[in-house]
Amino acid sequence: MIAITGATGHLGKATLEFLVTKTSPDSLVALVRDPAKAVDLAAKGIQVRVGNYDDPAVLVTSLAGVDKLVLISSSLTGPERVQQHTHVINAAKEAGVRHVFYTSAPKPSLEARFTPAIDHFLTEELLKESGLAYTFFRNSIYLDVLPMMVGNATQTGQLHYPAGEGKVSFALRNDIAEGLANALTTEGHENKIYEIGAPVSWSFADIAAALSQNGKTVEYIDIPTSAFEAELLKHLPAPVAKVYTGLAEAIKHNELNEPDPTLENFLGRPPVSLSEFLKALA
Ligand SMILES: NC(=O)c1ccc[n+]([C@@H]2O[C@H](COP(=O)([O-])OP(=O)(O)OC[C@H]3O[C@@H](n4cnc5c(N)ncnc54)[C@H](OP(=O)(O)O)[C@@H]3O)[C@@H](O)[C@H]2O)c1
Repeated sequence: MIAITGATGHLGKATLEFLVTKTSPDSLVALVRDPAKAVDLAAKGIQVRVGNYDDPAVLVTSLAGVDKLVLISSSLTGPERVQQHTHVINAAKEAGVRHVFYTSAPKPSLEARFTPAIDHFLTEELLKESGLAYTFFRNSIYLDVLPMMVGNATQTGQLHYPAGEGKVSFALRNDIAEGLANALTTEGHENKIYEIGAPVSWSFADIAAALSQNGKTVEYIDIPTSAFEAELLKHLPAPVAKVYTGLAEAIKHNELNEPDPTLENFLGRPPVSLSEFLKALA
């Protein structure tokens, strides 16, 4: 049996939707905080069970009979997130789960400028020490978040972002979900670390060029990080602004630049590219 946490989130749900095309729905478990949000999954024949990262006892019960577990990283950041992941890993051990797939990030490290990558490093370490078989899907930044990063650049003709010449190997969340479903239904992924992103990477100048369509040019303006942070602080609480500033700094220093053919190999086709994504968006 394969279980997925965060199954009412974007990646978890999309992965289950690919999985039902590959394996029997009654061998799939959607672990959710709120079963009322999983009516569509239950309608497909998927078992819906309660699985809150903050409730280890219920997690142990809900993981009964599960062989492979996908731990979708929690939406929090910092020590609370690592604590939540610790609950899930311990519950998996207690319940007799054999293999955990974890959604990590490129270049996880204690020194990461993108602070969620610190949590990913600590969680990867916990899994390596757990004695469980593990597979790390080090997912690149989703193409899906790009519209938030480029804002109204196509209207103004200017893309303001503090990323210098740094590049990102963006991937569409749906492609990651399909790759994950393919890995979950094939053998040989025990104790493997996969860099999951595009086989190429793009700078913000490349993004501006790709946004320049129908005769309208978009210019990339590399603004100072301090100006970006000051703007964020007008709209967001300081800890959230810090994550986004860290993301930009990480991009600038190529910490999210990990072009790799693995996702393409899992899909058996090229993943959706930056220009295909922006064309579809337009
Ligand atoms: N690579 C990227 O660009 C990128 C971008 C954003 C996030 N991420 C990371 O990747 C993860 C998956 O992405 P996504 O797009 O699927 O995010 P998402 O749509 O926000 O889904 C997150 C899921 O985590 C669940 N969750 C949060 N706290 C939980 C808890 N205490 N117990 C059980 N479940 C909990 C949520 O449950 P509910 O459905 O009940 O809310 C939701 O289903 C995110 O959680 C985040 O760690 C990566």
